Amino acid sequence: MAKRRGYHFALLVYFLMCTAQELAASRAGYEYIVEADAWLRLHIVPATWSDARLRCHLEGGVLASPTTTAIATAMSAMMADSKMTTRFVFIGVHALISKGDFMSLDGVPLANLSIRWREWEPNNVKNNEDCVTIDGAGEANDVSCDSPHPYFCRKETAKMTVNKCGTTADGYKLEPRTGSCYKLHRLARNWHRAAMACHAEEAHLAVINSNLESQVLKEIFAAVPNNVIKSGDPNFAFVGVWDWNEHGEWLTVFGESLPEAGFDGWSPNEPNNAGGQEFCGSIKRDGLLNDYPCLIRLPFICEITPK
Ligand code: BGC
Ligand code: CA
Repeated sequence: MAKRRGYHFALLVYFLMCTAQELAASRAGYEYIVEADAWLRLHIVPATWSDARLRCHLEGGVLASPTTTAIATAMSAMMADSKMTTRFVFIGVHALISKGDFMSLDGVPLANLSIRWREWEPNNVKNNEDCVTIDGAGEANDVSCDSPHPYFCRKETAKMTVNKCGTTADGYKLEPRTGSCYKLHRLARNWHRAAMACHAEEAHLAVINSNLESQVLKEIFAAVPNNVIKSGDPNFAFVGVWDWNEHGEWLTVFGESLPEAGFDGWSPNEPNNAGGQEFCGSIKRDGLLNDYPCLIRLPFICEITPK
């Protein structure tokens, strides 16, 4: 009898392990590569190499390189499974530090990577090919860093834990008064980069839907003193509204007007379009709205709205 129970227990454990594996197989667009104990994501929307690098970084990962044969094999399999119209995918290999000396982003030289050049490559066409793609067969080609390609990001298992805000990104805190999670980024970015950073964390630039939410953001901002804001004006933080048509028609990032969103509290004398280029939305430390130049860097607040 005891033996039988042991058998059933073993079966149960096996079943639970299988289920856990299934769940672990895909998360936030990433696939678990068992042989490498790493997570890979194939971004099929083409981007320049530096935008691809930034996107991976903002997701908490790196632009991936085929550092081992296990990773190289997984990359080929993912490319074969995808619905891409192009054959070439950016990897983290580049020669931007020293021309012709290709290395991965963590400095591993080409000789130690699992890479095979295509015939006649690398050829540095127009002396402008410092970035590297691979094709479905895993063969490498040096290409211009400025031409957009799909790309691979890689994240370590330790960075894949989903928190109670539903994201693998750190720094999000649930606010019971609104039911949303928020994160104030102290490293300043321009408005579009800020939006990109939020999306990379499965969030969006914060949208204020009530006086209460404006108060909540005011408190979150107040908790971050001026001297810990890195490289931007510490008196403003970007949020998810913009004057998309540059004619004073302010919309949220969900396309609603401010009254539709439920909050149109501008700070005194705002919006004033100071300097004629203030088409993106921020809050001041009073928690009220201010128009601000989209291209100047500010701290910013991301939000995850519960599903
Ligand atoms: C003004 C804001 C403006 C900001 C731009 C502030 O002094 O009050 O209206 O958006 O400067 O730098
Ligand atoms: Ca203004």
